[in-house]
Amino acid sequence: MKFKFRFIPALLVLFGISLPAFAQGNADAIISYRKNVMKAVGGHTGALFTIVKGGLGDYKDQMLYHAKALHESAKSIPAIYPEGTGTGKTRAKAEIWTEREAFIAVADEMAKAAENLIRIAESGELREFSQALRPLGKSCKDCHDQFRKRR
Ligand code: HEC
Repeated sequence: MKFKFRFIPALLVLFGISLPAFAQGNADAIISYRKNVMKAVGGHTGALFTIVKGGLGDYKDQMLYHAKALHESAKSIPAIYPEGTGTGKTRAKAEIWTEREAFIAVADEMAKAAENLIRIAESGELREFSQALRPLGKSCKDCHDQFRKRR
């Protein structure tokens, strides 16, 4: 195993990739990946709001998967904002890393709101759904207000 670890830097040198450049490339890729995840979050949230507001009963069975996707995304938030991804094409504020506990707390807030939506979607008692979208929307706003730069 030791042999393999020593082999990696040798390979990087061989292909002319320096370690810091490799790290920055990786940060850019993570930023791009997380923006796509956040766009998907926006898509699932918008889908739920349009089903509810438009009274689209034909699509009520889809609500569960949108809620589940939001729950999984919320749980992945800490991992997609690792240290070292605060510069470049990103609106992430430095506070994400200096006030890590507060950041994780709002991600948890979103996860709890999504969990509640899953529970309602599974129960089929969709009258509660509209009300239950509020805490979800609030979690987006709470985090963006504190941790996302304005344009
Ligand atoms: C725990 C914090 C947090 C929560 C919760 C959160 N967001 Fe975000 N969101 C961010 C940050 C930070 C960015 C900026 C990411 C970047 O530019 O690297 C962002 C970016 C976005 C973007 C823009 C993505 C792009 O293309 O650049 C959308 C859309 C979005 N969020 C939607 C939502 C919605 C909808 C919710 C709630 C269901 C939500 N977010 C919840 C922190 C959060």
